Amino acid sequence: MPPESAANSAITSVLREDRVFLPAPEFSQRAHIKSLDEYQELYRRSIESPETFWGEQAEKELVWFERWHSVLNWNPPLAQWFSGGRLNVSYNCLDRWLNTPYADKPAIVWEGEPWDQNKPAQQKTLTYRELHQEVCRFANVLLKLGIRPGDRVIIYLPMIPEAAIAMLACTRIGAVHSVVFGGFSAHSVADRIADSGARLVVTADGGFRRGAIVPLKKNVDDALELKDTRGALLARTVEKVVVVCRASNPIEMRDGRDLWWHEQMQSVPADCAATPMDSEAPLFILYTSGSTGKPKGILHTTAGYLLGSKLTTRLVFDLRDEDIYWCTADVGWVTGHSYVVYGPLANGATSFMYEGAPNYPEPDRFWSIIERHRVTILYTAPTAIRAFMKWGVEWPRKHDLASLRLLGTVGEPINPEAWMWYHEHIGGKRCPIVDTWWQTETGAIMITPLPGAIPTKPGSATLPFFGVVPEVVNDKGEVVPCNSGGKLVIRKPWPSMLRGLWGDPERYRQVYWSDVKDSYFTGDGCRQDEDGYFWIVGRIDDVLNVAGHRIGTAEVESAIVSHPKVAEAAVVGRPDDLKGQALVAFVTLKGAIKPDANLREELRQHVAKEIGPVARPDDIRFAEALPKTRSGKIMRRLLKQVAAGGEIKGDTTTLEDFTVLARLSQTDE
Ligand code: WT7
Repeated sequence: MPPESAANSAITSVLREDRVFLPAPEFSQRAHIKSLDEYQELYRRSIESPETFWGEQAEKELVWFERWHSVLNWNPPLAQWFSGGRLNVSYNCLDRWLNTPYADKPAIVWEGEPWDQNKPAQQKTLTYRELHQEVCRFANVLLKLGIRPGDRVIIYLPMIPEAAIAMLACTRIGAVHSVVFGGFSAHSVADRIADSGARLVVTADGGFRRGAIVPLKKNVDDALELKDTRGALLARTVEKVVVVCRASNPIEMRDGRDLWWHEQMQSVPADCAATPMDSEAPLFILYTSGSTGKPKGILHTTAGYLLGSKLTTRLVFDLRDEDIYWCTADVGWVTGHSYVVYGPLANGATSFMYEGAPNYPEPDRFWSIIERHRVTILYTAPTAIRAFMKWGVEWPRKHDLASLRLLGTVGEPINPEAWMWYHEHIGGKRCPIVDTWWQTETGAIMITPLPGAIPTKPGSATLPFFGVVPEVVNDKGEVVPCNSGGKLVIRKPWPSMLRGLWGDPERYRQVYWSDVKDSYFTGDGCRQDEDGYFWIVGRIDDVLNVAGHRIGTAEVESAIVSHPKVAEAAVVGRPDDLKGQALVAFVTLKGAIKPDANLREELRQHVAKEIGPVARPDDIRFAEALPKTRSGKIMRRLLKQVAAGGEIKGDTTTLEDFTVLARLSQTDE
């Protein structure tokens, strides 16, 4: 059956207001998965016999030093994939391309942020051969500094090739990396060092962001001095700090501890054997916010993660050899791990990397990059798209975007207006859009269109990827009727799923596997329409999604109450046209302290210092008391309504102090 009619026959019950975009026949013909029928047939196989399906994929996609003996051991909620197998991630991303025509293909093409009209932009291209050499060198540096398999390494770098080199070098020798986003503060770095027990930190003298320099090395220095409440150093496991010279930013180098990247790289050989690692050997830890406490260290392991990120990159982005693929995420987030580094390189693709802000020096930097580098695939976030809409179509119009053939979005629900704008003004109405739903925990894309096969509807992430069984359920775990809201759960294990929380197996069960029996709970609300399409509503736990960044309300609250003037704080989200959600904090002050604008700013900066600028509240509202239930629980529902500026609806009789509501509206401003 030709692709368009296959698609038509399945999409019989189009929702009233929804528009459906069918894959263009020219696109489908060349695509890896060419029709809805083909997708459905493969999907069915992947669900009916997951072990056969994933066994075949593992055999086809990955290079193994030793074959596995069982595809899956599932002892809920603990999964082991490809047990007994041995492989190496950096080998699969680099060495396997060496004696092939890919060896001289660009693996990474990079552009720095600084811009001078009279000079070409700072650029660097590393072929697979060159990247292999750099990775081998840095792996040798790590070995020389005593890093051994299983040791943890913190990577706190700007978006420069060294970030990918450091990650791959860790995987080459079996060290476990934990990348910390450059927008996190010294405190956050210290917490992550302390939790992971890292022995080494890789950082830079600075990174460029919107024309300013982010003082990464200075933050590391501060992190290594921070003390806990008992006066003991927080981050005491670090022995060495390797510093990339990026910004010629003056820094202090501590003797015996701090080493320059370029000096270390000169003194080591450019080859280093890749260590065969167990399929389930820890690969990386990535910290992410949850509904309670400090960020959780999400643990991913070797074979399943690599297989998931590789296969999704090829099929979701319909990757071709000649693509210039650009995922705009920072490597500090999981999107950067799976879709800037591991997924593209495991496919022998050219991954484009940009260091800085989308509006530096002008709001057309992205479009200028696409034009100059002939980018064919662009993967970015709805929050960025909404900013582009606000800046105006004159900026993309200045550039030739004809090289683009596919667009992607990730990180938060995309509103149909933003989807349409992206489609028209960036995709020239010819590029399919893949709206990909997934999480740090899932390691790889879970719900997504396959661009040659699955018709899209603006605002829906459409259908599950192979092997993924999502369902929308009520509190009892029963599937809700079509078009009703519910919790999004995943019923079966998948290869790239998290294997646990670093150092806290109990919390892993409790956070993800206790809410709905025998299911992984995503934390998201969702509905499924008549066509089985998934529409993600957003977080239904106490996690906010601010400009695509995941922020725990509890974390921000504890940062605010660590300020000496604050008694209590409650943080909620408010709908925001640009960021999706904005962060609003309701704060009560100690004793006789009076609120004012200075204190408001001081508290905002305090959060930036404690967690990082990404968590800085958009708004601080002072209150005399916070509305609470009789049992003392803060009534967040009510605060959300106040924050959104709406009327207070619903039953307020459970309030402990009725006057509190009136006071709230009086005292803010
Ligand atoms: C949360 C995960 C892994 C991608 C980067 C974010 C939201 C992600 C979508 C989408 C609607 C989305 C969810 C999810 N989210 N993609 N296409 N449509 N919502 O990773 O920081 O772990 O956040 O981002 O709420 O739970 P993350």
